[in-house]
Amino acid sequence: MSNMDIAHEIEHLREELNQHNYRYYVLNSPVISDYEYDQMMNRLIKLESEHPEFFDPDSPTQRVGSDINIDFKQVKHKYPMLSLGNTYNEGEITDFYNRVAKALNEPFEIVCELKYDGASISLTYENGQLVRGVTRGDGTRGDDVTANIRTIKSIPLKIKGDYPPAFEIRGEVYIPRLKFDEMNRERIEAGEEPFSNPRNTAAGSLKLQNSKQVAQRPLDCFLYYLLGENLPSDKHAENLEKARSWGFKIPKEYKVCRTLDEIFEFIHYWDSARKDLPYDIDGIVLKVNDLGQQRRLGFTAKNPRWAISYKFKAEQGYTKLLSVDFQVGRTGAVTPVANLEPVHLAGTIVKRASLHNADFIRSLDLHLGDMVYVEKGGEIIPKIVEVDIEARNPDAEPVKFITHCPECGTVLVRPEGEAAHYCPNAESCPPQVKGRIEHFISRKAMNIDGLGAETIDLLYSVNLIKDISDLYSLHPMQLTPLERLGEKSARNIIRSIEESKKVPFSRVLFALGIRYVGETVAKKLAMAFKSIDRLEQATFEELTAVDEIGERIAQSVIEYFADEKNREIIEKLKKAGLQFELSEEEMQTTSDALAGKSFVISGTFAKHSRDEIKQLIEKNGGKNSSSISSKTDYLVAGDKIGPAKLAKAEKLGIPIISEDDLLNLIGQ
Ligand code: IVH
Repeated sequence: MSNMDIAHEIEHLREELNQHNYRYYVLNSPVISDYEYDQMMNRLIKLESEHPEFFDPDSPTQRVGSDINIDFKQVKHKYPMLSLGNTYNEGEITDFYNRVAKALNEPFEIVCELKYDGASISLTYENGQLVRGVTRGDGTRGDDVTANIRTIKSIPLKIKGDYPPAFEIRGEVYIPRLKFDEMNRERIEAGEEPFSNPRNTAAGSLKLQNSKQVAQRPLDCFLYYLLGENLPSDKHAENLEKARSWGFKIPKEYKVCRTLDEIFEFIHYWDSARKDLPYDIDGIVLKVNDLGQQRRLGFTAKNPRWAISYKFKAEQGYTKLLSVDFQVGRTGAVTPVANLEPVHLAGTIVKRASLHNADFIRSLDLHLGDMVYVEKGGEIIPKIVEVDIEARNPDAEPVKFITHCPECGTVLVRPEGEAAHYCPNAESCPPQVKGRIEHFISRKAMNIDGLGAETIDLLYSVNLIKDISDLYSLHPMQLTPLERLGEKSARNIIRSIEESKKVPFSRVLFALGIRYVGETVAKKLAMAFKSIDRLEQATFEELTAVDEIGERIAQSVIEYFADEKNREIIEKLKKAGLQFELSEEEMQTTSDALAGKSFVISGTFAKHSRDEIKQLIEKNGGKNSSSISSKTDYLVAGDKIGPAKLAKAEKLGIPIISEDDLLNLIGQ
């Protein structure tokens, strides 16, 4: 192919992929399969890597972010990012409406919009191209987070149509609820702390210094406010429609209202319908539609006079605090949990609420037997927001934070600067020991199936395992006499323990459960130091020199190896034959080509064994699954494929690909 042809093909693929991105992420109506999309994307990646002279930062291939850490530049907003005055009752909405009516003394319209609960962002476009994305900051200056913003696929890098040469558009970066839950499920499975709620996670993600990590977060963005000198219309709602035609994700759920009744109708409708939305909103925003009228109304020091927000009341429950439990986790952190008299709240029955830590209990001035108000925010567990002091029994005892571990009696410690109390008895505090073993055997770590939390409990209670290394000296004869364990499951357990000796080094490192060393960090450390011995010898400086390894992780690794008990466990595991060095295979470069995709393989293959195919999938960021569901992205079909699998994939419309197609996808 001539260079001209290549340039043409690249241009064509970029156009097509942008169009499909738009259909998928903005319109939610894709017209091609993921497989076809991936093929086009991989072709473009290949052409661009062979022809760096055609590099374009706006190419759809550049949405994956970069591994280079950036410190954010502070930039001054051209137009300050003001916040809105909040109202919590309908009287205040009426007051706002009357104020506007009086000041304008002519007919006016109010646009009612949803108030998205995320992180606000201001995007600048020049000549149709995204040039900057800035957080709100203090309203006057914000952080330049352009590199992160560029990874959000619903935000167009280039727009189309009759747009003004320069403008800003503002909106909210958010995470849809289901995507948030899915991400948390994966984190829990990986032994990582789940995120507390979609809003904080969206805001936190924008501030990540590594855009590749941002690209992996399920961020989305609604835009709701156009600013600039040459806007297409002098009506806010018409500007939104124009911006929609340029390619922006503009919400459809807004209404131009002419009367207070229409405004209240909108508010009431969404107060109840909001639970059916796939994302969180926390209220309604009211804006005067006419930009000339907006200018006449102007601003107070903090807020526009032409707009206001109405915040929904979070649904509250009123119930009695029965007692407080203190739970000890794998890391020794102690979490207080309130036991409540069961109460109905937003469709579920609430019996427990998180109390976070000692400071939280103190700030509520919580007493046993108190009547409390509970709310379900974005959080997974409901929280106590207020105590009804009037209803308190005069003899009620204040809730005291325990001084000793409820599981092992050790005196608790609270490290300086931390909110949590810890049980320092990592070595023999039962939930810590069992938690570490459970983490060790979990799927993404050593993947010892046949063993679960209950069996670990059982083996621990009869003293057969005291730490992870004891797993490797278990004998079937010791297991079979145990209640609930038959001969067959005993054999299964021993077999999968044996199998786990092949698990590659990076996963073994993750399995050790070193604090702050999650799956990704373990991979980075394994790649950087190549063996456990080298990692053990690494200095603080050598550790922090590794990309993405910060001081907190480095300190934790050093502390782990400083503990003689940990070094003994590693010695025993080495003797048992676990992988403590990077294998040739792990060293081979990997890719993100299959990131986020789920595969089922079936049949036999010509070029690779089934295990090799599975490894290839994982090495390129994909996931293997044994059964087909609507979540499966591809069925990789070999010879003698199971007819049931084939039929199911066909029924669910899941692309069926060959071994060669798979190799194509990963560019081999
Ligand atoms: S308009 C001057 N519209 O609420 C008007 N804001 O306190 C600027 N928000 O910081 C904002 N949904 O992050 C507007 N439909 C919406 C909104 C919205 C959520 C957020 C935004 C802003 C805060 C106002």
